[in-house]
Amino acid sequence: MLVTRRTGGATVGFVERFGWGIVGSGRMAEAMVATLAEMRSARPVAVTSRSPERAASFAARHGLAVAATPATLAERPDVDVVYVASTHDRHVDDAVAALERGVPVLCEKPLAPSAKQARRLVEVARRERVFLMEAMWMVFQPAWEVLLELIDEGRIGAVRYVEADFGFPADPDPARRWLDPRQAGGALLDVGIYPVTFARALLGDPEVVAAVRVDADTGVDLQLAAVMRHRGGALSVLGCSFQADTAIQALVAGPEGRLVVRAPFHHSTSIEHRRRSKLVETFDVGYVGSGYRFEVEEVHRCLRRGLVESPRYPLDTSLGVLALLDRIRDVSDRAG
Ligand SMILES: NC(=O)c1ccc[n+]([C@@H]2O[C@H](COP(=O)([O-])OP(=O)(O)OC[C@H]3O[C@@H](n4cnc5c(N)ncnc54)[C@H](OP(=O)(O)O)[C@@H]3O)[C@@H](O)[C@H]2O)c1
Repeated sequence: MLVTRRTGGATVGFVERFGWGIVGSGRMAEAMVATLAEMRSARPVAVTSRSPERAASFAARHGLAVAATPATLAERPDVDVVYVASTHDRHVDDAVAALERGVPVLCEKPLAPSAKQARRLVEVARRERVFLMEAMWMVFQPAWEVLLELIDEGRIGAVRYVEADFGFPADPDPARRWLDPRQAGGALLDVGIYPVTFARALLGDPEVVAAVRVDADTGVDLQLAAVMRHRGGALSVLGCSFQADTAIQALVAGPEGRLVVRAPFHHSTSIEHRRRSKLVETFDVGYVGSGYRFEVEEVHRCLRRGLVESPRYPLDTSLGVLALLDRIRDVSDRAG
């Protein structure tokens, strides 16, 4: 229920319960509707999909209204914020449809398939002065805050080495989004974005990037490994795969030991401080309920304050990560 609504393109005032419109009908749309349904501050209200049948069945499952297009979804008076969970190639157009109607957007990662396309989206949000945030849920997790605190406290000394990987055996059906170049498929964009975001947040942009990749028959990367040297000589070693069930773990090391962010590192519930062969301490960062609610809470917090960007995950960070993904892709060889 809305107490005060948008004025002059930015949402201000106290909103008791935000009505969410959902773009897409896939796995993430399902996960987000389940998340919103368990929150007192949110209410999923409507969905849109390119397929009227999928939209109708999704809406029936969750008791939502159906909108014919992302534009008509944003125009609904009960939609205060739009969640874009379409395939990567659709993110810019779907988000712009809401932003141009003055409706705030939480957009799934990556904001766009390339930094250039994402810049267009960010320009629209800034021109319209409407809230936009990438749904990089990793950085809103309790584990993320604890990890940064442990590093700041000097538990492991200066960070010299970061390792992270994200791999799973993806559906090989070339019609699905993972391997389809028209849907901006490929492991780097889809799951490699997590290790890259992780390393860049801790070490900054690299001075040197080396990468190797193996491509699918469709031309997108099936797996990719990158090694990067950052300012001061710190290294990051990152991997992503659509072929291998990898550990999905991260490790941050310095002279005083290492912090092991237990799998799945992007929404971990446990961090270990280890020194040589010994476990020094374990930090339980577990929580009850959906791990997506932290990013939703950040959206609500920003909207209540009339912010058009999240200070915790600004759009320049999303653009910086995408520029680095472009760079890694550009330097990677093609061994497939
Ligand atoms: N934050 C996270 O943890 C996380 C996890 C997974 C994915 N994501 C992101 O969320 C976005 C959507 O990913 P997803 O995993 O939800 O993908 P998905 O399940 O493949 O769904 C994506 C879109 O594909 C269409 N679709 C769904 N089922 C289909 C089917 N059986 N046949 C043909 N098309 C179908 C739907 O589009 P229409 O309704 O328009 O037809 C749906 O919105 C991606 O950008 C991804 O990067 C984020």
